[in-house]
Amino acid sequence: MVLLKEHSRKGFVFYTNLGSRKACDLSDNPHAALCFYWGVLGLQIRIEGSVEAVTSEEADAYFASRPLASRIGAWASKQSSPLETKQQLLRRVARYTASYSLKDLGRPPFWSGFRIVPTRFEFWTAKEFRLHERAVFDLQDNCSWQRYLVYP
Ligand SMILES: Cc1cc2nc3c(=O)[nH]c(=O)nc-3n(C[C@H](O)[C@H](O)[C@H](O)COP(=O)(O)O)c2cc1C
Repeated sequence: MVLLKEHSRKGFVFYTNLGSRKACDLSDNPHAALCFYWGVLGLQIRIEGSVEAVTSEEADAYFASRPLASRIGAWASKQSSPLETKQQLLRRVARYTASYSLKDLGRPPFWSGFRIVPTRFEFWTAKEFRLHERAVFDLQDNCSWQRYLVYP
């Protein structure tokens, strides 16, 4: 689960620690799928695409807009690395809180965002008796979108 921070014609952006497991996976294989599911509404949207890094300017601007405690948390966390004791994390939080009281540390070099540039959308709508509707939009070489249905 990640927070979808931005969506535009350019793609879908989320932010994370660049040392995290998912960031390492994406650097090996820069493709991803997003899945949005609204159970109550019986809707799902799946989006597949290639993944690119956001610019440092974009990442800086978003990082600066985050609450101070979240900025400190980003500095303190070695996301996805083994943590021996909770105290270790709390000590790092205290250290970066003290550093922030002296000066704004800016964005950690290991924290940024990824943009999924879509090449395929699937809109899934629940229907009775499992006869769901699945409408696919596939990006073509000529940059148009081909729409077709697939069996549920
Ligand atoms: C509601 C929710 C929102 C989250 N948003 C983010 C996010 O925007 N970025 C992020 O790195 N992790 C986010 N997380 C934590 C991730 O789900 C995940 O635990 C973390 O990124 C480490 O994953 P990894 O070890 O597979 O890289 C969120 C978790 C929840 C429950």
